[in-house]
Amino acid sequence: MRKHIVAGNWKMNKSLQEGVALATELKEMLAAQKPNCDVIIGTPFIHLATVSELLKDSVIAVSAENCADKESGAYTGEVSASMVKSTGAEYVILGHSERREYYHETPEILKEKVDLALANGLKVIFCIGESLEEREANKQEAVCKAELAGSVFHLTAEQWKNVVIAYEPIWAIGTGKTATAEQAEEIHAYIRSCVAEVYGAEVADETSILYGGSCKASNAPELFGKPNIDGGLIGGASLKADDFKGIIDAWN
Ligand code: PGA
Repeated sequence: MRKHIVAGNWKMNKSLQEGVALATELKEMLAAQKPNCDVIIGTPFIHLATVSELLKDSVIAVSAENCADKESGAYTGEVSASMVKSTGAEYVILGHSERREYYHETPEILKEKVDLALANGLKVIFCIGESLEEREANKQEAVCKAELAGSVFHLTAEQWKNVVIAYEPIWAIGTGKTATAEQAEEIHAYIRSCVAEVYGAEVADETSILYGGSCKASNAPELFGKPNIDGGLIGGASLKADDFKGIIDAWN
């Protein structure tokens, strides 16, 4: 059975103190009531070491939101995959549309990041998804396939075990406009078929594919009720413990 996952993406929010407070609150909530899925929180780099230590004996895993496309050296301001790993973080989110758009991360750059993350023992949450314009032109399938082909389909089946896919339609991110459960299910099934073409049906069946884009406690049960939706990557609603817990509870 593939894993069900609820992952938070704090983006550029929370001071260190606020992040520690949120992680502490979540840890206590999930110790009191065990989640019925894997739980991950993606935090800014500056939180990683402290939050990883804090959550060491909890059910919550920690993710970075990015890592460098270079191994080490004179790249002022960058943080390498091995540095992320050394904090105790287990995952890294790569390919988020905000990174692609605002920081010009190309499929080639993302491929380097994916390779370095996996080589350094991190698991990758790899994001794909179309813009509104592409959706309106009915190009969502071609866009998702090309993003997978450009940055992750070169991986071996062994490496693929450490990859989680997140489908995040850009038009639904932070807009309050969620894809309908049917729209999401349709493309998730397509994404799984693309994985099956490259790695076979068995591997595709084991691959977790998360939905992201204005997912909240009120729409999570319907989304997660679909056969090809294995959880969510949560932005805005991961910034408050109660909101995030409400989404985790959708798996109960
Ligand atoms: P959102 O963000 O939940 O705030 O729409 C999702 C994401 O970008 O991962």
